[in-house]
Amino acid sequence: MELFDVYPLFDINPVKGEGCYIWDDKGTKYLDLYGGHAVISVGHSHPHYVDRIAKQVKKIGFYSNSVQNPMQVELATKLGELSGLPEFSLFLCNSGAEANENALKLASFHTGRSKVIAFEKGFHGRTSGAVAATDNAKIVSPFNSKHDIKILPLNDLSAVENQLKNNDVAAVIIEGIQGIAGIIVPDAAFLEALEPLCKKYGTVLILDEVQSGYGRSGKFFAFQHTSVTPDIITVAKGMANGFPVGGVLIAPHFKAVHGLLGTTFGGNYLACAASLAVLEIIESENLIENAKNMGEYLLSNLAKIPSIKELRGTGLMIGIEYDKNISLLRSKLLFEKSIFTGVSGTSTLRLLPPLSLSEAQVDHFMMCLCEASDSC
Ligand SMILES: Cc1ncc(COP(=O)(O)O)c(C=O)c1O
Repeated sequence: MELFDVYPLFDINPVKGEGCYIWDDKGTKYLDLYGGHAVISVGHSHPHYVDRIAKQVKKIGFYSNSVQNPMQVELATKLGELSGLPEFSLFLCNSGAEANENALKLASFHTGRSKVIAFEKGFHGRTSGAVAATDNAKIVSPFNSKHDIKILPLNDLSAVENQLKNNDVAAVIIEGIQGIAGIIVPDAAFLEALEPLCKKYGTVLILDEVQSGYGRSGKFFAFQHTSVTPDIITVAKGMANGFPVGGVLIAPHFKAVHGLLGTTFGGNYLACAASLAVLEIIESENLIENAKNMGEYLLSNLAKIPSIKELRGTGLMIGIEYDKNISLLRSKLLFEKSIFTGVSGTSTLRLLPPLSLSEAQVDHFMMCLCEASDSC
């Protein structure tokens, strides 16, 4: 059997990881400023992470969600504590798309409505409802497009109110920081006005923090750079440093109904061990503070480069916009300087490194970027 050919692949086969580095099968060491697409939060193969999962799998790896699982309770408690949202409750699933799918379902069930508002250039996943709320017609099938979704311009409050005032919108879903769009931070004033507007019309506000959450922005959640408290928050990627875990954080005014949400694998012992290890490392190594500081250090260095058209983002979620195609620059960084970066579209380099990035690693990147782009 062959693999279904869904990804364009780099000719690199990573076989080892440690901290902010990966090694390929030829022994080349790469500085990982892509974090496997914002997934590697606490660094590759962190000893505490490895140890916690290894110890757990020796005890018990899986049982179904029909029995007590104190590790899920411990995870919810710790997540509530570190995120500053102890009053929220947690539903555990397996991915970002699944988290958004469940958030949309919950909002629809709770309001009795089906319409959803999402935003231009937004990305929420590839499952049916999540992809319908994603602004990319190329990845939507006729089956997906049956959902009642309105895509509106970001930061346009009156466009949102025009829709909400019919009192038929179940949810507004918005990324804390738009990732795939090229690191676009919604205006704080827009988010802060959106919250009361949603309340006024009985619409659920869902913050998709799948990419921007878990400390990446220099706060636990990107929306915490504003005064907003959403009704539902979705998480995945950095939550378990590569172990497939997603979560839906649900405000106390939602009533749980047995059977409405559910999953076979979500919240299993290994997923909990991985997710707990991540929170423990974030806390013990002060990684959110480090993400904030290293983000500021990166941005202040990048701001000195005249060939960069625009810098966007906060913490370790940074978009570097050029006024030219950057595919050559990215290849030079990867194959000549051994630095992994992400891209958005054709002109944005995207940095999503582990939150443990050091000043020396930033300095090394800056030197390589200057050499690869012949500009500093
Ligand atoms: C903001 C956002 N939401 C949802 C998703 C989907 O997550 P997953 O690929 O885990 O389904 C992604 C993935 O890139 C994302 O960036």
